Amino acid sequence: MALSKQQNILLIISGGIAAYKSLELIRLLKKDGANVRAILTKGGSQFVTPLSVSALCENECFTDLWSLKDETEMGHIRLSREADLIIIAPASADLLAKIAGGHADDLATTTLLASDKPVTIVPAMNHMMWNNPATQANITKLREYGHTFIGPTEGDMACGEHGMGRMSEPQDIFDHLKKNSKPNPLSGLKALVTSGPTYEPLDPVRFIGNRSSGKQGHAIAAALSKAGANVTLISGPVSIPNPKGVHTIHIETAAEMLEACQNALPTDIAICAAAVADWGAETNAHKIKKREDGALPVLALKENPDILRAIATHKKRPNLVIGFAAETENLAANATAKLAKKNCDLVLANLVQSGAESVFGSDQNHVYLIDANGSQDWGKVDKKAIAARLVAEIEKRVEK
Ligand code: PMT
Repeated sequence: MALSKQQNILLIISGGIAAYKSLELIRLLKKDGANVRAILTKGGSQFVTPLSVSALCENECFTDLWSLKDETEMGHIRLSREADLIIIAPASADLLAKIAGGHADDLATTTLLASDKPVTIVPAMNHMMWNNPATQANITKLREYGHTFIGPTEGDMACGEHGMGRMSEPQDIFDHLKKNSKPNPLSGLKALVTSGPTYEPLDPVRFIGNRSSGKQGHAIAAALSKAGANVTLISGPVSIPNPKGVHTIHIETAAEMLEACQNALPTDIAICAAAVADWGAETNAHKIKKREDGALPVLALKENPDILRAIATHKKRPNLVIGFAAETENLAANATAKLAKKNCDLVLANLVQSGAESVFGSDQNHVYLIDANGSQDWGKVDKKAIAARLVAEIEKRVEK
């Protein structure tokens, strides 16, 4: 995990005399360029104040699961999703027991249980508490869950006793984090991805739609998130699950997708993989009835907004805008025309065929990357492999 500029760190401060050391840790992390958010538990707030924590973090200090304000502005899910790394320092024996047992009765434990991010635990407690078999069993469990431990160390304790259980020094914690960090190429960048079909209602029961499953767009959102980007996925109706760690917004129509995309801007990257219906219809308030005389209903179509073009020409245009081109003929020529017409930096062109060979719904895709320099054939591979290759391509372009 990277520990570098714009690294997002969520620091959980639980109750213990060593909580004062967490203030110095915040200072070191901030000096290194990290964005630090903090959760202060009820116990932690007996030792340090939310005011000193938020002043050092230069961010609000979160304390209460039940605070409507905190939940509205920054829910526990978002606190966890928007972090690259969670550090618990100091971690009390009680907090270790709670997370080992999967409890979720306050903001810290709920955020941890809902988290998909790496967790580093810095314990601090009396040596008898540390050596207690119950604590040791909890630590074994937490290591098995994949959590990392820093410390504790041996020494004199605040209670006057001597032994193992002192919280590691802030500089040692920082050095350990720094040494074990590996670059997270898209950390600190925001990305917007569209995926799936749109449904354009004709009446309360019928709609115009298409066969997009969302597999390609969702795979891209997941790969971006894995590379450290903060991803918002705007998805049409699909039957696949939301990608882990991705803020997913569900919409139905092209107009709703446009509105959600505009609300998500500004972002650094936008990728439009959705199969947006080019036309919608005037919606009938009531179900269109079959006529006795056999006359067919006349559907008045209206053009839908071009979402990709709207993003690529927006005043808050992302630095990198990537579109798809789904073509049934003249793939290269039509995709190159779309690159210019939609003001994109890159287009992934795929030939859509019908029946068993259709890219819609399939696990595989055959794409060509088209940019100002020409076209590259990426071959027919799994949609997840295309997503990984696209993310590698994005990494090269954001480095420039
Ligand atoms: O979802 P899957 O089953 O995995 O299938 C993947 C896919 C075939 C849907 C995907 O690979 C793909 O090709 N997506 C784009 C489909 C499409 O609508 O292509 P298009 O050539 O009509 O549109 C060109 C680009 O403009 C696309 O980036 C599209 O998202 C965007 N667009 C189109 C129309 C519109 N009104 N608004 C848009 O943003």
